Amino acid sequence: MGNAKKRVLSGMQPTGSLHIGHYLGVLTNYASLQPDYDCFFMIADWHSMTVFYPEFRKAHSFIPGIVSDWLAAGIDPEKAVIFLQSNVPMHSELQLILSMYTPVSWLERNPTYKEKQEIIDRDIDSHGFLGYPVLQAADILLYNAELVPIGEDQIPHLELTREIARRFNHFNVKDNDIFMLPKPLLSRFPKVLGTDGQKMSKSYGNTIMLTETPEKLDQKIRKMKTDTNRVRRNDPGNPENCPVYSYYDFFAEDKKSEISAACRNASIGCIECKKLIIERMNNVLDPFRTRKNEVDKNPDIVADILRDGARKAKDAAGETMDRVRDGMGFHF
Ligand code: TRP
Ligand code: SF4
Repeated sequence: MGNAKKRVLSGMQPTGSLHIGHYLGVLTNYASLQPDYDCFFMIADWHSMTVFYPEFRKAHSFIPGIVSDWLAAGIDPEKAVIFLQSNVPMHSELQLILSMYTPVSWLERNPTYKEKQEIIDRDIDSHGFLGYPVLQAADILLYNAELVPIGEDQIPHLELTREIARRFNHFNVKDNDIFMLPKPLLSRFPKVLGTDGQKMSKSYGNTIMLTETPEKLDQKIRKMKTDTNRVRRNDPGNPENCPVYSYYDFFAEDKKSEISAACRNASIGCIECKKLIIERMNNVLDPFRTRKNEVDKNPDIVADILRDGARKAKDAAGETMDRVRDGMGFHF
């Protein structure tokens, strides 16, 4: 008894190189789950096609860099299955089956459907984009994942996954439910601010990349926005309105109360305050940089890991598809 670890699955779209928001919000979280869970971590390249279909080749070219970022962040192919969605065709088969159990109105009601239609400057009025959550449900249900590490923005997708699974189970009654209903595992640091104080995002041009050199990091933090009401060195500041201070949560928690007090009584200047955070960020990024260099020296590593991951993922997905086909009565 007791050696069955809970299954976890999560996915990330390959939309570009990774920044510290991904690192703090996602990668450290993934890495910390490895000892205690049976982890599947997937690059959701089919999902990225929903938006990047005209330039999919470019989106695909990000994949090796993302995998090496994952490895450098401590995601370990010995402990987790690291794989590419498009290498496991069962995702598409299950998506087709689940799509029959998914009312269009559920998809039209999905908040990210409307939001993305508004912010993305490209025609995404496609069947595939509307069906995005069905593919995500297939990703999760294919592995019978009990827990899904996600940020808050993904909660509606997980809720839809549960509804689709429930409806499928209802129409395909067997002794036991074919799918179990997955639960979210919310990340501890859901939001990391960018250099301009908005949420860190490639589309705002406010990112600090994981691969930033120490020089570039220094430059970016020195230019970073602070409390805009603190104009002169002698003005007292309010750290709660300062994106630099928000990084203390992640990189220098032990210094928070000291910095907060010093900012409020103007005994520390922003330059000094930034210097300290730069130093602390480098302490975290240095080991990452070293590991990333190691991985990038050997170009076969990534391909080998993805091949091995695809094999393991296909084994697990194949078992589920056998149960699905059997449960539905596909007997020939
Ligand atoms: N939709 C997720 C995102 O954009 C990515 C994703 C695809 C995912 N499939 C998944 C996340 C399965 C969790 C589980 O972030
Ligand atoms: Fe922000 Fe630090 Fe300047 Fe205060 S001292 S405004 S916390 S950078």
